[in-house]
Amino acid sequence: MTQPSYLPEVFSFDSASAVPLYRQLYQRVREAVDSGVLRPGDRVPATRVLAQELGLARGTVASAYSLLTAEGYLEVRGAAGCVIAAKHPPGPQPRVQRQRSTPLPLDVGGAMMPQPFQMGLPALDVFPRKVWARLAARVARATQQRHMLKETVFGAPALRASIASYLQLSRGIDCTPEQIFVTPGYRESVGLIMRALLAPGEQVWAEDPCFPPTRQLLNGLGLQAVAVPVDQDGIDVVQGMAAAPDARAAIVTPAHQSPLTVTLSGPRRLALLAWAGAARAWIIEDDYDGEFRFASRPLPALASMDKHGRVIYCGTFSKVMFPSLRLDYVVVPPALVERFEDVASLLSSGSPVLTQQIVSEFMQEGHFARHIQRMRRLYAERRELVATALTAALGKRLDIAPQSGGMHLLARTPHGIDRDIAARLREQGMAAQPLSPWYTTATPQSALLMSFTNIATAAQAEELGRRVAQALEG
Ligand SMILES: Cc1ncc(COP(=O)(O)O)c(C=O)c1O
Repeated sequence: MTQPSYLPEVFSFDSASAVPLYRQLYQRVREAVDSGVLRPGDRVPATRVLAQELGLARGTVASAYSLLTAEGYLEVRGAAGCVIAAKHPPGPQPRVQRQRSTPLPLDVGGAMMPQPFQMGLPALDVFPRKVWARLAARVARATQQRHMLKETVFGAPALRASIASYLQLSRGIDCTPEQIFVTPGYRESVGLIMRALLAPGEQVWAEDPCFPPTRQLLNGLGLQAVAVPVDQDGIDVVQGMAAAPDARAAIVTPAHQSPLTVTLSGPRRLALLAWAGAARAWIIEDDYDGEFRFASRPLPALASMDKHGRVIYCGTFSKVMFPSLRLDYVVVPPALVERFEDVASLLSSGSPVLTQQIVSEFMQEGHFARHIQRMRRLYAERRELVATALTAALGKRLDIAPQSGGMHLLARTPHGIDRDIAARLREQGMAAQPLSPWYTTATPQSALLMSFTNIATAAQAEELGRRVAQALEG
């Protein structure tokens, strides 16, 4: 496909130089081709357009182009204009890629196809892309001048209203659109909350084990993460109070603890809310996958039980729709709305309006609710397929923990070997993650975290079961 041209941004000229201008242009195009900035098939602007852009005479550009054409760098394609030739003379080696001195933190990977067991992804194969395309086209066609203005940084009004009514009905959270702040992701949500409510150096309870970016983020924001153990009832509030009674906040995943998938029990919910009320601390509820409960209807969010305005709720479209949307939201108690408006106005540039409008239409037309229901059933099925296949292939070598919801399963391994097994699976192209690095304690549990959301058939699950068994034997 012919790429749009972008030559003018790449060039500037020295009219005082002894090198004639046409030669400067010629050299710069060559350098851009040799270094891979311009690739075969990229279109270069017409001589008239480029001359105007660069403030050069048209003849100067034409001379550079004819030299480049003669040397095989450019190809004339009739009405389509000039493009970079598919085969051009070999130039110097492409520029050496910059090497990082330290590895990037977890979860900052580039885009890839879902790998078997890859965590954090919804079932991409069942997303209603035709509906999405239709709505996107409709929203794009309806673009008026007023839509081209910069929207409020708190979120598009239509989307805030759609989120409020969804949360009211589905998650039991009584909120108005003004309480909702749309962000591009979980990191920005937590950053906004922490900057609005906490000061550097203050303590925050973090579940142990916990989603690695949460701890990295707290450290990055200059806060002190206090690891609070998680058992089968969720975060152990008594231990939290013993370790850091005066912490300013707790970040929790009550619906399905990340990564253990356990649900925060009723008594623990009450204890956490009571601590926050007494300590005047904030609870940050990361409800990243609360919709996906198989055992019963989804449990109401912790925020729905909050009578004293201590819970700040974080939601995301990454799990229910797809992660490249980059749309999350924070719901704040009414008393905090003004504070968040001030901080968001200072720190946020907002999220793309077009995407917000499409998502809002998707919700208003009922596709969102239907998709969640469908995924809930599908995840229960896919989990069963994968658990059955792994058990058949591996017997007692992996012990699959029961779970009431979530998007990945936990396959327990003998103590201390999960990193080694995960490394062997990775060598075979399978992206299961070891559980132990998600802990800070010196005695972590050992298990594999394996997402089942993108494993669609029994045959696929069985094949993967065989590959896992082979990798463990090899
Ligand atoms: C525990 C947890 N919280 C939050 C998120 C949401 O991240 P985002 O909405 O920025 O994609 C994820 C995504 O993997 C997650 O696993």
